[in-house]
Amino acid sequence: MKTSLPFWLCTMSMIGISSTSSDTVVQPIVALVGDDVILPCTLRHTVSAVHQSVEWQRPDLNPKEVHLYRDEKDDLVLQNPVFRGRTSLFKEELENGNTSLKLTRVKLSDAGNYTCYIPLLDHQKTIIQLLVGAVSRPVIIIERMEGDEVVLRCEAEGCYPEPVMEWFDAQGRVLPAAGPTETSRDREGCYTVTSHVIVPNSDNNTFTCRVQQLEIKHMKERQVHVPDQMFPRTCHSCWLTVLVAVLGAVLVEAVAVAGGLLYLLIKKGILTFRKEAWTSEMNKETTKNEEDEANESQSVIGLDVKLSILIVLCVI
Ligand SMILES: *[C@@H]1O[C@H](CO)[C@@H](O)[C@H](O)[C@H]1NC(C)=O
Ligand SMILES: *[C@@H]1O[C@H](CO)[C@@H](O)[C@H](O)[C@H]1NC(C)=O
Ligand SMILES: *[C@@H]1O[C@H](CO)[C@@H](O)[C@H](O)[C@H]1NC(C)=O
Repeated sequence: MKTSLPFWLCTMSMIGISSTSSDTVVQPIVALVGDDVILPCTLRHTVSAVHQSVEWQRPDLNPKEVHLYRDEKDDLVLQNPVFRGRTSLFKEELENGNTSLKLTRVKLSDAGNYTCYIPLLDHQKTIIQLLVGAVSRPVIIIERMEGDEVVLRCEAEGCYPEPVMEWFDAQGRVLPAAGPTETSRDREGCYTVTSHVIVPNSDNNTFTCRVQQLEIKHMKERQVHVPDQMFPRTCHSCWLTVLVAVLGAVLVEAVAVAGGLLYLLIKKGILTFRKEAWTSEMNKETTKNEEDEANESQSVIGLDVKLSILIVLCVI
């Protein structure tokens, strides 16, 4: 008979639990941020609730009043201000015993357990868990080059349930991520998910990052097009670039030197013209100036040539 005592205690406690909690726990309700949601509550037997008091509460809040209906009208004096203007009962449904609550413009902070209670029929207490789902549109960042490939990073924030992140190419094929998705969770129970992908240059560098909350069939995505020139060049095109640059630099230098010579010649021409107009007394001085200027120009050309060689060397 020793074994029967714990058995009885167990049975008694089970009876105790089931008799004190006449509460009805229904399946959690899931809503997305911004949605309108109906928290269901109905009297077991089709009894009119029109002349009853209906108390909707959130026991974890202070004040805990969500919505109060009594004396055949709403009494929202004690209502918690976070619900102001967002709650209503279906008045035409009350006579069918339907005391469901409509909550509009759902916020993240609305997540929690709600109780529906009709005091005069106190066996009718329903607990409804509201889960609020949210996920931000992901953001894609072109992070860095790795060899001749580009590393992309995708980031999104989400609250219940944990979002799943995936990459796709232009043809909609799944791209394997570079390592596992990183997930961090904040105090409100919301997540930040980050995933990397390494992509080579291809015909169509369009990539998609998608976040999904499978349980609530919620999906958001973003596409990025990586321009061709973002990808580091292969060696072949590298040489081509250098060659073009060198040829370009040489051409520019040649034009500069030619321009300098032309300028010098014009200047000389002017000087000769002026020399004729001036008096013989000034002739000596002018000739001297001319020689100076010619020397100066020569040194400038010398500098120019040196500079051009230097530039070409630098480019190579
Ligand atoms: C209660 O009324 C609402 C609004 O008309 C409705 O959506 C819901 O299905 C009703 N509940 C039941 C159990 O009939
Ligand atoms: C709501 O109730 C569920 C079980 O019914 C429990 O797991 C959860 O922690 C409760 N949430 C809050 C905020 O009290
Ligand atoms: C290539 O990318 C463009 C966007 O840049 C897209 O509109 C187009 O559908 C893509 N083509 C293929 C074949 O995927």
